[in-house]
Amino acid sequence: MLQVNLAEDIYYLGFNDRRTHLFENIWPIPHGVSYNSYLIVDEKIALVDTVERAFIDDYLDAIEEIIGDREVDYLIINHMEPDHSGALKAIVHRYPNITLVGNKKTFGFVESYYMKPENIHMVHDDHVLDLGKHKLQFQMIPMVHWPETMVTFEETNQILFSGDAFGSYGTMDGGIFDDEINLDFYEVEVMRYFTNIVGKYCPHTQRAIKKLAGLDIKMIAATHGPIWRSDLNWILKRYNKWSSYDLDQGVVIVYGSMYGNTKKMAETIARQIAVRGIKNIRVYDASKTHSSYIINDIFKYKGFIVGSAAYNNAMFPNVETLLTTIEHMAPKDHLLGIFGNYSWNGGGVKNLKTFAEKIKWDMVYEPIEEKGNMKVQTQEELIKLADAMADKLLEMPAPEKI
Ligand code: FEO
Repeated sequence: MLQVNLAEDIYYLGFNDRRTHLFENIWPIPHGVSYNSYLIVDEKIALVDTVERAFIDDYLDAIEEIIGDREVDYLIINHMEPDHSGALKAIVHRYPNITLVGNKKTFGFVESYYMKPENIHMVHDDHVLDLGKHKLQFQMIPMVHWPETMVTFEETNQILFSGDAFGSYGTMDGGIFDDEINLDFYEVEVMRYFTNIVGKYCPHTQRAIKKLAGLDIKMIAATHGPIWRSDLNWILKRYNKWSSYDLDQGVVIVYGSMYGNTKKMAETIARQIAVRGIKNIRVYDASKTHSSYIINDIFKYKGFIVGSAAYNNAMFPNVETLLTTIEHMAPKDHLLGIFGNYSWNGGGVKNLKTFAEKIKWDMVYEPIEEKGNMKVQTQEELIKLADAMADKLLEMPAPEKI
């Protein structure tokens, strides 16, 4: 394995996964993902997080290539999710005298997933671990993305080992540092990683950003995706915008339709919103596009309009799946419109109303429901819904460019 240094004696040990289709067995990763671990070689040797278990053999070999017969003294556990702790047990077997470094919430996870740890070192905010030339300081950032998550700040070179925070989907295709790659490729992948994985925990992310602002950080090394060393603001501004629900002028329109009648209603709305001058309009068929991508645009745009055909006296199942995901993530401050279609008993709009009550977004117009093909009167109502959404969106200030 070609060695990649973040600084003298600090190594990148990342592995690219181009085989897995679904991250967490939920989220599509057509461009793969990387699992990044880091090795610091000093008077004491420390690993920062490990990798997914599929890469254990190559990971152990890569460590040995660098340190030979020396022992690893510490395993810093910033995050226990198995995509990063997958090689923990193998590391403990290979280096039985190793000390696991974590916080008061970490070791319960170690025990429930792997084993009762023998040698542990409990850390807290501002705690410093001295490796020799390199001093490691710890800060807790709970719920970014699990309760035990923390970051490790290497004070000598001012590198923040940030865990999931500031990570991205997408493999490292040769380039590893932000100045080695065209970031256009990562624009969507970084945001999808954020919205899909961390999106539920925006308030916690905001707290973490404020807390870490006190550190003089020169490099951010996350557990997925590029290492940020040239333009830290690229990633920091985006995380700040997304986690503060700073939404742009635009609308996401999603529908579930079997025979095209609900789709026609969606397209009528979309056309009228465009006529009113709104340019960011994304229309999705919930049966075709995975929630991962739709959620991403919901975190981007202020407006959300959802339509559902009735199905077995309920909502269309693919729309229901999306709305359940939205309810779990509970993004804030959206404008909402709902519509639907039925053939006999209904069930689509009825359940959309329940969603609207739970999510508590600002309803711009009353729910609209059609029976069968769209009639002129319903079309007029849909245009009123579109106008009501456009009116609100046009009141928004122009978005700040990032
Ligand atoms: Fe990349 Fe929360 O694990």
